[in-house]
Amino acid sequence: MRLEGRTAVITGGTRGLGRAIAEAFLAEGASVVAAARNPYDIKELADDHEGRLLYQYTDVTDERSVEELMTAACEAYGGVDILVNNAGVSRDGKIARLSVADWNTTLATNLTGVFLCTRAVIGPMTTPGKPAGPGGRIINVSSCVAGRAAVGAGAYSASKAAVEMFTRTSAVELAPKNIRVNCLSPGYIDEGMGKELAANERAWESYRGRLLSDRLGRPEEVGAAAVFLAGGESSYVNGTVVEVNGGLLWAA
Ligand SMILES: NC(=O)c1ccc[n+]([C@@H]2O[C@H](COP(=O)([O-])OP(=O)(O)OC[C@H]3O[C@@H](n4cnc5c(N)ncnc54)[C@H](OP(=O)(O)O)[C@@H]3O)[C@@H](O)[C@H]2O)c1
Repeated sequence: MRLEGRTAVITGGTRGLGRAIAEAFLAEGASVVAAARNPYDIKELADDHEGRLLYQYTDVTDERSVEELMTAACEAYGGVDILVNNAGVSRDGKIARLSVADWNTTLATNLTGVFLCTRAVIGPMTTPGKPAGPGGRIINVSSCVAGRAAVGAGAYSASKAAVEMFTRTSAVELAPKNIRVNCLSPGYIDEGMGKELAANERAWESYRGRLLSDRLGRPEEVGAAAVFLAGGESSYVNGTVVEVNGGLLWAA
């Protein structure tokens, strides 16, 4: 029970990797607020963890919606200890054909959403009178293409590279408030976007050749890394990117 008594807000916590992180946090004793525009079947998970899982409608691109999320988390659980900025979209398209709308949606969700949620959680993580405890934790979810070029990923890669830089600035600015900020960078995972990409045999075969582990990652492997970054075992890890990608090392 490494997260007993802690409250986590997970954007995009309703499905895909966010849901896997929610499940891992619940198993470690945390209370979780799953924030997204649709609840999907999150109620089933809530039924299994009575009183420890709240769904809150949230659009991370909307400043007011993000403020309402943090208010709801505070009202339900008295504050926020952990924020996982996981909500994301991928609008693939070669630059020559990429629409401004797709570019804007990608940046608004993947980057502006991280900024809005980070800014909004500082208060709930540092409320006066809140027991000192181990301090706040922010985990930003980037991607293996944040630092590697991939055809058709111009907007997505740029947004994730910016998230990694934003992580470092946040870590510097929030350290005096006892908030640690790290980034978790998944490779292709057998869930959500990774699962969709791997369904394309050509894309998967080309990616697979660069991978030390000859398989997709498992969602629970991402959940385990998130628990590490959220808990006490990572007490000396700050402002860095933890890659969970099965050894994506080969250039070709
Ligand atoms: N799966 C992978 O292999 C992989 C690899 C590298 C990085 N990642 C990153 O991991 C994160 C999760 O990816 P995933 O594969 O789990 O994707 P996914 O299955 O498509 O889930 C995305 C989640 O984000 C939410 N979301 C999207 N736009 C939102 C908005 N404007 N406001 C609030 N929530 C929003 C979605 O819910 P609603 O649509 O209902 O709002 C959903 O819960 C993303 O940041 C992605 O870039 C994934």
